[in-house]
Amino acid sequence: MYQPHLHDLIDRLMGKTNDKLLANSSLQLRIMANIAEIEQLFNQLYSHHPKAKGSFEKLISSILTAAKTRPVKMQEKDAAKMKLGNWYLSNRIVGMSLYADRFAGGLLTLADKLEYLEKLGVNLLHIMPVFESPQNESDGGYAVSNYRKVDEKFGDLLQLQTLQNHMTEKDMYLMLDIVFNHTSRQHAWAKAALAGDKNYQDYFYMYDDRGMPNAFEQAMPDIFPEVAPGSFTYLPEINKWVMTVFHNYQWDLNFTNPQVLVEMIDVVLWMANLGVDILRIDAPAFIWKKVGTSCQNLPEAHVLLQLVRLCVQVAAPGMALLAEAIVQPSEIMKYFGRNNYFGQECELAYNATLMALQWDALATKDVRIMQYSQPELQQKPNTSTWITYTRCHDDIGLGYADGYIYQAGFVPYHHRNHLKNYYIGNDDSPARGALFGSNPKSGDARISGSLASLCGLEHALEINSEAEIKKSIDKIILMQAMSLFSGGLTMLFYGDEVGYTNDYSYQKDSGKSYDNRWMHRPIINWAKNDKAFVEGTIENQVFAATQNLIALRKRLAVFADHSNIYWLQTGNNHVAAFVRYTADKKITCLFNFNDAGSYVRWSALFGHDAYGYELTDYWADKKLTANGEFYIMDAYAIAVLEQEK
Ligand code: GLC
Repeated sequence: MYQPHLHDLIDRLMGKTNDKLLANSSLQLRIMANIAEIEQLFNQLYSHHPKAKGSFEKLISSILTAAKTRPVKMQEKDAAKMKLGNWYLSNRIVGMSLYADRFAGGLLTLADKLEYLEKLGVNLLHIMPVFESPQNESDGGYAVSNYRKVDEKFGDLLQLQTLQNHMTEKDMYLMLDIVFNHTSRQHAWAKAALAGDKNYQDYFYMYDDRGMPNAFEQAMPDIFPEVAPGSFTYLPEINKWVMTVFHNYQWDLNFTNPQVLVEMIDVVLWMANLGVDILRIDAPAFIWKKVGTSCQNLPEAHVLLQLVRLCVQVAAPGMALLAEAIVQPSEIMKYFGRNNYFGQECELAYNATLMALQWDALATKDVRIMQYSQPELQQKPNTSTWITYTRCHDDIGLGYADGYIYQAGFVPYHHRNHLKNYYIGNDDSPARGALFGSNPKSGDARISGSLASLCGLEHALEINSEAEIKKSIDKIILMQAMSLFSGGLTMLFYGDEVGYTNDYSYQKDSGKSYDNRWMHRPIINWAKNDKAFVEGTIENQVFAATQNLIALRKRLAVFADHSNIYWLQTGNNHVAAFVRYTADKKITCLFNFNDAGSYVRWSALFGHDAYGYELTDYWADKKLTANGEFYIMDAYAIAVLEQEK
């Protein structure tokens, strides 16, 4: 809606900086198209706040400044992306998350490893948090003490920019994190608050007594119940309580204060101008708090994200937002936007549900819960996409809906217990993981462990069994194949491409020993990774298979995510299958989660007249004929089938 006062505001702000910026007509269109909506969303959150008016002006000024200083190269890339339309849906993008230091020794030397990643087929790097974070209280970089300074242990800002330039030359994309929900207690804002500065105390949720903390905690679940129970921390220096949902050194930012929003959007836009293609918004489910609620997934959190999206659209339209909302499926979906904002909130969200259900199927050899969950997951907007993944730096949560567990005939409590036992290696299971975040009150727990260890490779090596090694590699490939083919932008986790097993050395480091997620965050030993190119080694088998999967994904346009998927009922509870299609191609993907051969009726896959069909299996790279009643799959096998025309 056209609002004359907003036009005046823009004229005034532009006049003040004596700018020719609005001569750039694309920017002019973007700001005029979005400003009324930005104001409307801003007012939904802040209209009654005494600092609302000044903050709104600052917000608009920060958007215009970011747009003005956006490097020309990035503006050109924005334009190219706009032309492509929803560029992140492509089957030709495959990502990897990695720590610059643990993977390559730092940002400078990471540039030397781009070739290795290219060989694998990776062209999007999620470089795990690089901004300054205190060494012994960093939560892997998710406790930031300076949003604009690269932590010395990784290098410096110039090295990050140089790396980004190299990556652009190689047509690689960059993803970085913004830790939006909280800062480190060593951030300048927190230090000022501790020194008694009222203005900065309002940047956090701070209280003089336990009244509000008690009220909040009645409904707030513990996130790290073992090491950081409760959601508030006492500050003896100022005799106050501060909200700390995660660790006690991570102070939650108070987004009910518009000054905080303005500061954080300014950081977002500054990061956009570093050349970030996808901004991973850390923990967005937590960014708005209200007494009496779980303080997760609140409607205002969505308004905040919609606001961020509109600001980014004006200043850096090529940057996509990824919501790291690892919550129940019905809530995850909302981060794509709903109602008027359908498809207008975050472009990407993690498919944490599918990820967890892959692990569910692997442990139970039963794909029904995964299958029952699909209709809900398929409701995402066509313009949005998932991050699909099997492992990341975090634990595996088992928070999918109980209803589907019942539907498959299991009791959720016992079912989850079985999974936990399986992944910590009980009951003769070959998996080697550990429980993370066990909550004695609720009985909940999540799972840590590397892809290879959870798939049995660590155990297979212990008992030195060729057969078990083969089986674990087959499982690794099965899991990765599902992530790569099921629709979304796939994000691998570094080390998994060569089968790193758990690293227990974190136990000797006091800054990490309390957090077993470090067991699956390896320090890369390049002598080991070099074996990826030595025929016959385990590293080579895993690397080559992963490389082939990626190549296949990139080769077949059906794997671009245009919501072009439907799941099949295979009639065999061990086998999951879905069809990916375009107007002129139909590919059927099959995944056998059984540790023995499985039979699937041809008719379940290709209809009643399937008999005699000539087929291509792209994965096995062979032709076959649909003879007999059944298609027979080996243990943990996959197939990518197309009917010959
Ligand atoms: C996100 C990160 C996780 C971190 C948490 C708190 O979930 O992925 O590693 O511990 O946020 O910042």
